[in-house]
Amino acid sequence: MDACFDENIWTKKTIEKGRILFLEGDPGDDIYYILEGAIKVFILDSSGRENILALLGPGDFVGEMSIIDEKPRSATAQALEKSQVLVLNRTLFASQIKENPSIAFRIIQILVERLRKTDQQLLFQVCKTARQRVGKAILDLAEKFGRNTDEGILINLRITHQDLAAYSGVARETATRMVQDFLNSNLLKINPKNCLIVTDLEEFRMTVFE
Ligand code: CMP
Repeated sequence: MDACFDENIWTKKTIEKGRILFLEGDPGDDIYYILEGAIKVFILDSSGRENILALLGPGDFVGEMSIIDEKPRSATAQALEKSQVLVLNRTLFASQIKENPSIAFRIIQILVERLRKTDQQLLFQVCKTARQRVGKAILDLAEKFGRNTDEGILINLRITHQDLAAYSGVARETATRMVQDFLNSNLLKINPKNCLIVTDLEEFRMTVFE
């Protein structure tokens, strides 16, 4: 466990794949710190379609916004795979921050990083092609969940085409077509566990964005 987190105060929990941590609009009293796994954060649009705001992994917080501003949950959080988290309620969180300001600093860092990402994503939504959006989503995943292997960067996450589409802001069929395109041109591979491998990160980036 990270030195920032006192085991006697934070509660360790296992979240099974597919389980909802909380729903958009729920009152929010707990903050979660992800130790292992992946958490999908999404909102539904007016037609009920999922828009994935973020795929969070080890080292990320989720649920900090409601804890800080006391407003309802801004999005739904669901385990994309079996995950381990640390949980703390608002009152204890406030006292933990006073005792250990490095937790507050970590949260500020995460919020700043999120703002940078959101700024970049905004630019992408407005002016990029479907190929670039799906390519950008794959690059984000490689950065967050990627592991160096002999074959390239293995994205250690079994993401469905539906989720990839919801993360890229394209239709499911488009995401499938783009992945197939990347596979055909050997920019991507799929391993026996159905995880994506970016064969050459630099080439992928160049082919997708130039
Ligand atoms: P909260 O509003 O309590 O519940 C939903 C959570 O999703 C929110 O806190 C954040 O932890 C997380 N979240 C919301 N928007 C984003 C985003 N754009 N990027 C990453 N995480 C987010």
